Amino acid sequence: MAEKTSKSVLVLHGPNLNLLGLREPDHYGNNTLADIDALLAKRAKEANISLASFQSNSEVELIQTLHALADKKVDFIIINPAAFTHTSVALRDALSAIKVPFVEVHLSNIYARETFRHHSYFSDIAVGVISGLGAQGYLLALDYAIKTISD
Ligand code: DQA
Repeated sequence: MAEKTSKSVLVLHGPNLNLLGLREPDHYGNNTLADIDALLAKRAKEANISLASFQSNSEVELIQTLHALADKKVDFIIINPAAFTHTSVALRDALSAIKVPFVEVHLSNIYARETFRHHSYFSDIAVGVISGLGAQGYLLALDYAIKTISD
């Protein structure tokens, strides 16, 4: 019998998230991005899901990564668009174009911060939004993704 192909999740991290661990720990905690990616990889492996993580400070690279998904099938996306959350119609349009369901994650509670952070260009097209739960937010999003794509 042919082996069942495993489902896949892509995790996208936006600008400045490469500085996690050093960057404003009061807002973003002490975990590095490598710590978060390792936690996600472990959870995905346990669930027999293939998971890739990608961080970029470039809007163009993030958009091109999404466009490339037209060829490589991905079942679910977890994205922290970081500052692009509040600015990028282009990244929003790329997500709309590829029609892969996604959860928007923020480490900090964007609604408890400056007013310019209260608006997201992604939330209304996301399956859901997790904001303010730190690194755990990514794991909760992954648990949701695993459950959804395994059903
Ligand atoms: C962030 C919140 C954004 O407002 C900010 O620009 C970030 C990180 C978060 O994870 O809390 O870079 O997305």
